[in-house]
Amino acid sequence: MKGHFVVFEGIDGAGTTTQSRLLHEALVRDDVPVHLTAEPSDGPVGVVIRQALSGRLVVKGMSGLRAPGWTTMALLFAADRTDHLDSEILPNLADGITVISDRYVYSSLIYQTETSGDLGNLPWVEHINRQAPRPDLTIVLDVTSAEATRRRRHRHEVEQIYDDRELQERLALRYRELPARYPGDRIELIDGNGETQEVHRACLALVRGLRGAR
Ligand SMILES: Nc1ncnc2c1ncn2[C@@H]1O[C@H](COP(=O)(O)OP(=O)(O)OP(=O)(O)O)[C@@H](O)[C@H]1O
Ligand SMILES: [Mg+2]
Repeated sequence: MKGHFVVFEGIDGAGTTTQSRLLHEALVRDDVPVHLTAEPSDGPVGVVIRQALSGRLVVKGMSGLRAPGWTTMALLFAADRTDHLDSEILPNLADGITVISDRYVYSSLIYQTETSGDLGNLPWVEHINRQAPRPDLTIVLDVTSAEATRRRRHRHEVEQIYDDRELQERLALRYRELPARYPGDRIELIDGNGETQEVHRACLALVRGLRGAR
């Protein structure tokens, strides 16, 4: 029997890393075979993406060095995803192991389209990601951009290229529209503004429901 594929999504600081880890720990306690992973992945393309996000990889533009443009980023994310699927996600699922991924294809569909400045680019971003199978369950942690900003500040990390309050607000809106945009996919919005353990309990209930359904 194939394992379940569970994905966490949300804006920067929504708590996807926190909730992925808590879910992983809870399933380990339940004796469920489970593998925790994230995108960008630890693979070769994922490493390049992380460097681009943190500003340590720049490209030559007309007026000097700059961050890679949105098309380059979209293609890098899609390439990292096929590698991540082949090397890690699909083999684990085939072995009956539940896979939890901290971000996946919806991050590409939302961030790359939004940073392109034209929502008309969505079909192209969907197209380059069409090989990516849809998860059994995607949990969108819905937080206000104010709360997410507060949490990111608290974390004291290096600024990333998507750290812009106004952009994060638009991304939060796109995330809220996700279930309606992809009605064939199982996408659940969870209020992520609450206390960590409270959010965790809501996520765990969804995942237990998924396992009970089999
Ligand atoms: N429910 C919560 N209540 C309060 N603080 C939280 C909650 N969830 C996460 N945090 C804290 O907020 C910060 C951001 O959380 P986390 O790193 O999980 O977000 P993220 O969505 O993975 O962010 P990024 O997209 O930047 O990786 C962390 O310092 C974390 O401890
Ligand atoms: Mg994170």
